[in-house]
Amino acid sequence: MRLTGWALPELSPPDDDTATPSEALARYAAQSGRFTVNGRAPLHVDYPQQRPALREHFWQRRDAEYSGFTVIADLAYPDGYMEVRCANSTTEAMARGRESWFLPDPARHTDLPDADRRYRVIGNRDVNGFLWLGATDAMRLKMACEAYCGAPLFGRNLQVLDWGVGCGRIARHLAPGIGDGFHGCNIDADNVSWCAAHLPGRFAPSKLEPPLPWPDATFDVIYGVSVFTHLRREWEQRWLAELRRVLKPGGVLMVTVHGQTAIDFAGLSPTEHHALQDRLAREGLVVTSSNNQLDGFVDHPDEYVNVFHSPDYIEREWATWFGRIVRLPGYLFTHDLILATKAP
Ligand SMILES: C[S@@+](CC[C@H](N)C(=O)[O-])C[C@H]1O[C@@H](n2cnc3c(N)ncnc32)[C@H](O)[C@@H]1O
Repeated sequence: MRLTGWALPELSPPDDDTATPSEALARYAAQSGRFTVNGRAPLHVDYPQQRPALREHFWQRRDAEYSGFTVIADLAYPDGYMEVRCANSTTEAMARGRESWFLPDPARHTDLPDADRRYRVIGNRDVNGFLWLGATDAMRLKMACEAYCGAPLFGRNLQVLDWGVGCGRIARHLAPGIGDGFHGCNIDADNVSWCAAHLPGRFAPSKLEPPLPWPDATFDVIYGVSVFTHLRREWEQRWLAELRRVLKPGGVLMVTVHGQTAIDFAGLSPTEHHALQDRLAREGLVVTSSNNQLDGFVDHPDEYVNVFHSPDYIEREWATWFGRIVRLPGYLFTHDLILATKAP
């Protein structure tokens, strides 16, 4: 199988900005050893390849244009997934999942939500992206949770909630391993019905405002991917309190926010980029625009907005409800992952 993509080079030495393209390509060629597929060296790696478009997009990240790769490997899905990894020598142990992409065996995923349901969740209708991004998010969440807790996520009869499950983009990869204790909820009742009819687990519609339909201290783990990226501060504060309520003492919360990585990925000009960074540093939580992806499917579509969070804001404001807050920048692609716990 031939895989192409990009992975930023590790900057070494970091202080030389004057290399010609051929010198830069030669400098990073030794990094082709960073790639593995299913834990083994691939049949062939071509890295780095020059990608001028990446320099345009990531003008703030040095040598981003020397990021292209082609990897050739045997097509194999042990346990249902092909794991393509590009290691970084500086990645801390808890963030190691960020180095891997997971391609699910398509034969196990023939029953998929239609293009409109997928669009409401990820803003595009690309079915391949739905599958490999969903699998990669799911496996990275699993890895971060296990590193944070020091215990496996699967096979322990845990009660797990996917808060904002959408049409099961992530749930389809986690629910089978978790078993009967898997739950999902969403304000988009049509997508909840789709999940209930097609995926293992229990699914319930919920509202934009709390409460959730579960008693206090129900869940061992709650995750929510790209929900706090859409809620204003007032809603966020109420939801932090509510998620704490339904979490068991010692339970783990994993949610994503947009931070610096999302700013870098946003394709902003230097002026816009610095303006957003400054505003974020001043305000902590910034609503940048409205989002119309859920129009016609939820009660308060005008309350569905696009939001950025600063690290300081999270540490300061979220500590009211949760302890041991850990932030993994860019852990789910453009999203930062926040892990936190409810004190026993
Ligand atoms: C960007 S989508 C992500 C969906 C899913 N987590 C995923 O990653 O595929 C955001 C989802 O959050 C849901 N949502 C927004 N506010 C919510 C709330 N207060 N409670 C539950 N779900 C909410 C939306 O309906 C939408 O499905």
